[in-house]
Amino acid sequence: MDNIIQKIEQLKKEKNAVILAHYYCPGDVQALADHVGDSFYLAKVAKGTSADIIVFAGVKFMGESAKILNPDKKVLMPAADADCPMAHMATVEDVAKVRAQYPDAAVVCYINSTAELKCVSDVCVTSANAPKIAKALPNKRIMFIPDDNLGKHISKTVTDKEFIFNNGYCPIHAAFDEEELLSEKAAHPDAVVCSHPESRECILKHSDYIGSTSGIIKYVTDSDAKEFIICTEVGIDYELTTKNPDKKFYYVGAKCVCKDMKLNTPESILRVLETEENEVLISDEIREKALIPLERMLELAE
Ligand code: 13P
Ligand code: SF4
Repeated sequence: MDNIIQKIEQLKKEKNAVILAHYYCPGDVQALADHVGDSFYLAKVAKGTSADIIVFAGVKFMGESAKILNPDKKVLMPAADADCPMAHMATVEDVAKVRAQYPDAAVVCYINSTAELKCVSDVCVTSANAPKIAKALPNKRIMFIPDDNLGKHISKTVTDKEFIFNNGYCPIHAAFDEEELLSEKAAHPDAVVCSHPESRECILKHSDYIGSTSGIIKYVTDSDAKEFIICTEVGIDYELTTKNPDKKFYYVGAKCVCKDMKLNTPESILRVLETEENEVLISDEIREKALIPLERMLELAE
């Protein structure tokens, strides 16, 4: 492993490359990355970097967003097949139908979406900024795509707007089971429950804190509590335990593994740095249209 890390470090210098990794990547990938974070943080880093090559250890929509925000950089995906199923759970036709029926509606698109969906959207959001952006929009009606659970969660805090939902979901978060959560709570009565808003309402209603991956990490790190039940993908455990070695973490269910995120490995990072394969390529037409909602997100989230 030391050998792989050394080669990665050397290639990074030679090629002026930077490695970005999401909190759901394997721990050894997070350990070697230059920047680790949630989707919002990583999009901002991708926009601001002076590196010539961005190696994005994440899933396809993250690499696409980095390329859209930074067209002159070469963006490489360590795992070409790493994709987010939810990103495909709304269609351009769904959006067109709602726009025809409600011309006043703003289409708010979770960043976990294809570049094509972003092209027909008014603004992007991540779980870290969604309520703030939904509130800031002048429109009274919002179509939220593709995640039904995140959309419904936001609609509870943004009560002066009418929401049109879509039936997309994250298969990992949607699999959290209420009975299992209740039995974890019974087994650890002092534990604080922290959940990602991609989880279903039956999980969120038992949660003490609901937020993005970085929100959960901050909440846990700032908390005086010693035990936590975590309802999100298990990759977050690396940062949680690194920052909080004296705290205990329990996870709900054996299924909380995003297999796409786990396709990123030190070996695959080294390979793309060597070969520069798996480059993210987006046509100018799509890139220019998809840039508009992404830039609007960055503006409104300030
Ligand atoms: P955040 O890291 O933005 O909370 O997103 C979670 C997620 O599912 C990324 O795919
Ligand atoms: Fe997509 Fe869910 Fe994996 Fe995140 S955890 S990348 S939303 S499948």
